[in-house]
Amino acid sequence: MLSTQTISEHASKDSCWIIVHGKVYDVTGFLDEHPGGSKIILKYAGKDATEAYEPIHPPNAIIDNLSTEKHLGDVDPSTVTKVVKVISEAEKQRQALIAKRPPLDEILNLHDFEAVAKLILPDKAWAYYSSASDDEITIRENRAAYQRVWFRPRILRDVTVVDWSTTILGQKSNLPVYISATALGKLGHPDGELNLTRAAGKHGVIQMIPTLASCSFDEIVDAALPNQPLFLQLYVNRDRTITKRYVQHAEKRGVKGLFITVDAPQLGRREKDMRMKFVGDDAGAKVQENMSGVKKDEGVARAISSFIDPSLSWKDIPWFRSITNMPIILKGVSTPEDAVLALEAGVQGIVLSNHGGRQLDTSRSGLENLIDIVNVLKTRGPWPNPNFSVFVDGGVRRASDVLKALALGASAVGIGRGFLYAFCSYGEAGVEKAFKILGDELEMNMRLLGARNLKELVPEMVDANALQAHVGATPRDNLFDSTYQPLRLAEFKAAKL
Ligand SMILES: Cc1cc2nc3c(=O)[nH]c(=O)nc-3n(C[C@H](O)[C@H](O)[C@H](O)COP(=O)(O)O)c2cc1C
Repeated sequence: MLSTQTISEHASKDSCWIIVHGKVYDVTGFLDEHPGGSKIILKYAGKDATEAYEPIHPPNAIIDNLSTEKHLGDVDPSTVTKVVKVISEAEKQRQALIAKRPPLDEILNLHDFEAVAKLILPDKAWAYYSSASDDEITIRENRAAYQRVWFRPRILRDVTVVDWSTTILGQKSNLPVYISATALGKLGHPDGELNLTRAAGKHGVIQMIPTLASCSFDEIVDAALPNQPLFLQLYVNRDRTITKRYVQHAEKRGVKGLFITVDAPQLGRREKDMRMKFVGDDAGAKVQENMSGVKKDEGVARAISSFIDPSLSWKDIPWFRSITNMPIILKGVSTPEDAVLALEAGVQGIVLSNHGGRQLDTSRSGLENLIDIVNVLKTRGPWPNPNFSVFVDGGVRRASDVLKALALGASAVGIGRGFLYAFCSYGEAGVEKAFKILGDELEMNMRLLGARNLKELVPEMVDANALQAHVGATPRDNLFDSTYQPLRLAEFKAAKL
């Protein structure tokens, strides 16, 4: 057992100990390797780092990354003095806003969750979740693309009974929608991704578990019902033995689909997130900033993602096929050329995604790419192809968006932020409500469109002529626009000029 006095004597870059979850670790040799830079660890040198560590690391990260001789033992609890936590004014205001949230039954659509989340999330969480890359053109285009597609409804079809259930990669789903992977759920809610798992289990919806979840993979699988289907999103590690172990463990635990992210050899520049790094740093951290070699400009996203292998290529696909029998889906395909390569590589599907606008800015929306990709896939085998699914994500907020994508040939649609903001605002109940909203919207829109089931959604039900035209007046999307936060320019430190 180590006393807090002893631990506090190791508070420099020459000898740096930290406490996480009541255990003491010597991280001196790890400072330069820490993906988030050494500065942030040094801020907690000789102290308890649990609160900062928890939301942005899987629980076992420190245990797995440090050799056992660096695990120094337990903190002697009799030496711990209770720190009275000073609650900042901003935090008090945030808590007051949380208390005044609208009751859940006043939430009518997915935009409402976002509006609540924007006000009640800690600044860092909102910055990480809402940010997109560069000038954030693509995140806005993701939304706008849906509004360039118009419906051509059919009438007099006896729509008393409508059914929007489906199968996704052979798994039953009560919605033609799955929960796409969004990392670091605990930044926004103490239960993190478990909110999604539990709600998805109750409502027969499929969750894609992110590699960078705040909860550990096993915690999430343990929270699922016995036969609840789950997918896994994979960031491929430079060390393929780690990837192999992870994938095979997932398969053993019953995961039904492996979504390999292929649009993130390097994470995009997300400036809202990057600017947050400078906010709230105390004086000690400012001194550290001046140390040579400390990276100052990386937000949460880049800090956690340096393990991702940029050398990933088509040559790796046979290897993935050799290590797992799970269906393999490439997440982040944009062109017909790559869609055909994926088909030829023998994977079971693709997600037309630009990562929620967080990667290559001014890349086209998944919905727009769907048209060209479906056209080319139709020339390469049966359509729809039972062995090759085409998913779309990005900007989906309404069931009408879902129906447009399905009519144009998508097998199902992924939603990221919509469900993320639902649990940040209202926990598991929020996610359940989001499913209910989508179900109600699907029922109404399918009736109005004249489609009794998803098979009856055909390309003739939409006019997508304007989709590939990047000019043209569409009505403003007021709900989206009111929560969209414009980027801002650099600020002078002292505001008096
Ligand atoms: C906060 C956040 C974190 C994300 N993390 C990941 C991730 O770790 N891996 C991944 O493949 N995609 C990630 N995505 C992308 C989503 O899986 C999905 O492609 C995107 O959110 C869809 O757009 P939408 O948010 O408009 O629905 C993330 C998206 C957000 C908003």
